[in-house]
Amino acid sequence: MNQHTLSMRLERVAAHVPAGARLADIGSDHGYLPVALMRRGAISAAVAGEVALTPFRAAQRTVRENDLEQRITVRMASGLAAIEPGDGITAISICGMGGETIRDILEAGKAQLSGRERLILQPNGGEQPLRQWLMQHDYRIVTEELLRENRFYYEIIVAERDGPVAYSPEELYFGPLQMLGRSQVFLSKWQHILRHKQQTLTSFAQARQAVPEEKVQETAQQAKWISELLSQA
Ligand SMILES: C[S@@+](CC[C@H](N)C(=O)[O-])C[C@H]1O[C@@H](n2cnc3c(N)ncnc32)[C@H](O)[C@@H]1O
Repeated sequence: MNQHTLSMRLERVAAHVPAGARLADIGSDHGYLPVALMRRGAISAAVAGEVALTPFRAAQRTVRENDLEQRITVRMASGLAAIEPGDGITAISICGMGGETIRDILEAGKAQLSGRERLILQPNGGEQPLRQWLMQHDYRIVTEELLRENRFYYEIIVAERDGPVAYSPEELYFGPLQMLGRSQVFLSKWQHILRHKQQTLTSFAQARQAVPEEKVQETAQQAKWISELLSQA
């Protein structure tokens, strides 16, 4: 992967960035996403935010080597603190982190959100708490995508603030649009997770030390939801 050839995962993220956007890519690492989009003429400006020094320097290098310093600003900052009011950001991507981390970044930086930005989020797990935050802050999930690359499943959640919205506990768990679409990759993912949940429940039952009842109930509830989801025609 580089600034020319994105991974399939980042390529699908790129597809949800509106044409001509002013993008803030938070946790940009090498800066491949904003640089690739700018090289294609797909965005008009970008901020690449990084909290850690090594990826910050890598992003600076990618931007410099592509002669894009005038169009892409690389800032070392935590989360949305990389965004300044004058940036006029219209889309924010936060990709390749746990859903809870993305949620914490949004929560810590909500003062920086105007509410007009499209959020393009690619959590690695922890989708449920992230969707919960989105709902609680009036973000509607406008697109969801699930893809499999190198044996891993990746979710992409695109959200815009035009709520209030109300999602059921199952919708927060599975993704409201994915539940409707029921793609083959979606069903495969949940078959895989169901097997895992069933193994977990068996190991809870055999455990020498008692597992907290709340944990058992939560896992049993999730296994029930998944079984019901998969049994629907
Ligand atoms: C696994 S990389 C993902 C890079 C890229 N977004 C992608 O999807 O390929 C996660 C990056 O997020 C950065 N990161 C983690 N927490 C952050 C935060 N609070 N603010 C900015 N960057 C953060 C890390 O330093 C790391 O470079």
